[in-house]
Amino acid sequence: TGLTTFDPGFNSTAACASAITYIDGDAGILRYRGIPIEQLAERSSFLEVSYLLIYGELPTQAQLDTFTSNISRHTLLHEDLKNFFDGFPRDAHPMPVLSSAVSALSTFYQDSLDPFDDDAVELSTVRLMAKVFTIAAYAYKKSVGQPFLYPDNSLGLVENFLRLTFGFPAEPYEIDPVMAKAVDTLLILHADHEQNCSTSTVRLVGSSQANLFASISAGVNALFGPLHGGANQAVLEMLSRIKDVEDGNVDAFVDRVKNKEQGAKLMGFGHRVYKNYDPRAKIVKQNADEVLKALGVSDPLLDIAMKLEEKALADEYFIERKLYPNVDFYTGVIYRAMGFPTRMFTVLFALGRLPGWIAHWREMISDPQTKIGRPRQLYTGPTERNYVDMSDR
Ligand code: CMC
Repeated sequence: TGLTTFDPGFNSTAACASAITYIDGDAGILRYRGIPIEQLAERSSFLEVSYLLIYGELPTQAQLDTFTSNISRHTLLHEDLKNFFDGFPRDAHPMPVLSSAVSALSTFYQDSLDPFDDDAVELSTVRLMAKVFTIAAYAYKKSVGQPFLYPDNSLGLVENFLRLTFGFPAEPYEIDPVMAKAVDTLLILHADHEQNCSTSTVRLVGSSQANLFASISAGVNALFGPLHGGANQAVLEMLSRIKDVEDGNVDAFVDRVKNKEQGAKLMGFGHRVYKNYDPRAKIVKQNADEVLKALGVSDPLLDIAMKLEEKALADEYFIERKLYPNVDFYTGVIYRAMGFPTRMFTVLFALGRLPGWIAHWREMISDPQTKIGRPRQLYTGPTERNYVDMSDR
């Protein structure tokens, strides 16, 4: 058959070469283009990190200014695209609304679809970086039945997003700098993670030479699953259940997970690559405490999360499987303190991952080694048998 390996889930198969992100899962190291995540989270900004991921180098001030102003000029959605949101039920989850609207960008911006035209790819990149934030805010507005606002391009990308999300037309919206900074940092932490499920999806779809919008829309759908980006929502639901239904009994919950009762998992724990503390989770945990204090919020779910972590890290089940908190374990508590409903958490992950997806798609499309992604299989069905006429079955 010409097959040399059988590797379900790609545990040990590299599908591409990439110069974007480095992870050492045993040591808990993450670097974007060589720069440690800790330095970027503390000193950079989301747009600067996006530039770094997409173009490979930190921008000069002039380059960053141009990138930023190009993006802010594209934040408006075509008026007809806004009608699109009316077609969804009021209680629609914002993730499929987001992926559908991103997919629809291919119909509104047909002048930037050619994957081999550098100017077109550049235009699609800027359009996505701007419009996905507006789409995400409108998905939220739709879900709470509130009117859409037009973007205010005198604001930065994150500030604009917060205003579009939480503001009202004709009312001033005061941006809380603590919240804006915290969102910016969380976006940096989510910006890339090499060949995770959604990024691999973007690359696979793009390998057929599908356009950037189509490929990113597929990535959003991959991210929605609870084992991937959907875990941040699942963590908060788990913490709420422990608090409200199980009287805060962390020990009993951990026992159920260890006994694999009804497939129970400790959501926000474990990772395919990290067999050590996820470096992003370390930063998020520090931030959670600080941000909640600064916002004047105290949340019993944060205490439950810390108890769960302490209990799990001391338990043989988790120790022998090298299960540590991942990036999703503490993010939900911060998003909740900011006032985001649980259903928006994975959308926030998507906003952060956007530059990573774009960077990978661009690397894939310009790599002469790229071939259409086409895994093989081990066939396990029947060997040859004859067709049986309906009357003889
Ligand atoms: N709770 C309990 N047991 C777990 C967990 C968990 N969260 N994660 C893994 N295990 C167990 C698993 O049951 C298996 O045990 P056994 O050897 O007895 O069968 C062992 O640990 C190895 O796990 P695996 O499922 O083979 O590992 P994987 O690399 O295929 O899966 C994972 C990685 C992230 C899907 C998994 O750890 C998981 O489901 N975690 C919970 C969901 C989650 O938090 N996802 C977010 C990941 S990080 C951000 C992102 O990518 O979006």
